Amino acid sequence: MTRVHVARRLLPRVEDALADSFELVAEPSGVDGLLVSAGDPVDAALLDEAGPALRVVANFGVGYDNVDVAAATERGVLVANTPDVLTEATAELTIALLLALLRRVVEGDRLVRRRDPWRLDPNFMLGRGLRGLRLGVVGYGRIGREVGRLAEAHGMEVVPIGRGLDGLDQVDVVTLHVPLRPETRHLIGAPELARLKPGAVVINTSRGPVVDESALVAALEDGRLGGAALDVYEREPEVHPGLLWRDDVVLTPHVGSATYEAREAMGMLCVEALRAVLLEDRIPENAINAEAVAE
Ligand code: DGY
Repeated sequence: MTRVHVARRLLPRVEDALADSFELVAEPSGVDGLLVSAGDPVDAALLDEAGPALRVVANFGVGYDNVDVAAATERGVLVANTPDVLTEATAELTIALLLALLRRVVEGDRLVRRRDPWRLDPNFMLGRGLRGLRLGVVGYGRIGREVGRLAEAHGMEVVPIGRGLDGLDQVDVVTLHVPLRPETRHLIGAPELARLKPGAVVINTSRGPVVDESALVAALEDGRLGGAALDVYEREPEVHPGLLWRDDVVLTPHVGSATYEAREAMGMLCVEALRAVLLEDRIPENAINAEAVAE
C-alpha cells in the first residue's frame, strides 16, 4: 500500500479519508507522500530521509515558506498547498484583530478580569470606529481582497498597496497579506514604519518575518504608532518581550485559518493532492511546482 507520513493530528473526516486511501506511517522515512503543516520545515535532509519513493509533499497551509521547493523540484517531488479554502477565515481574523485593537476589546477584557474598578462613563475606554478610515492592503491577492471587501462593508476606504509601497504614508491602517519570500522579509521595517501617519496601526496575519519585530516595538515605544495586532511572529512561538505587556497591541497565536470549516477543507485538499499524485498519477490543481515532473 502507498505509504504516507502525516506530521500532525487532523480533523476526523480528514484522518478517515487518509486512512481509507493510504498506509499511514509514524516516521517520515521510506514514504511515498508527506503531509506537513505550514509550521513544519521541509528541507533537503527531510526529503532525503523520506527516500527515493517520495513523490509529493502536501503542505497544510497556503503559505509554503517552510518548504524548500527548489530541493523538492530537484528530486522530482511535487509540492501542493491549500489556497482559497482559508481565505475567508484569515480575512475574518484580520477584521477581528482590527476591531479588537481599535475598540480595545482585549484591554477591556483584561480590565474586567482584574476586577479593576470601572463604571459607565462618557469618556471611559474610548476607541476608534472603522468608518472613514483608510485601509492600506499590502498584498492584494485572494486574502487581501477579501479583507478589503469586509472592510468596505464597515465603511473603510480600501487602498491596495503594491510592491513599491506607494501610498503607505496615506493610510490609517496597514494590513499585510504577502507570502514570505526573500524580498518580503522585513518589508515593514524601521524606514517603512517611519513613513506611516502618526497614530497609524499595523495588522499582520501573513508571516511574522514580513515585519521587523524589533523595529515595530521601537515605533510603538516612541509613540509614533497607534498600535499593532499580530497573529504571526518572527520566531514563533516566541514573541518579542516588548510586545507582551502593551495595551495597544493585540496578539493571537497564528490562528488565521483556524476554523473547523477551513481546517477540514484544508485537510481534504491535502488528501486530494496526495490521491492525485500517488493513486491517479496526475498533477493536482494546487501543485506549486508542476515543473518537478515535467518531461
Ligand atoms: C497558512 O495557510 O499559510 C497558515 O498560515 C497556516 O495555517
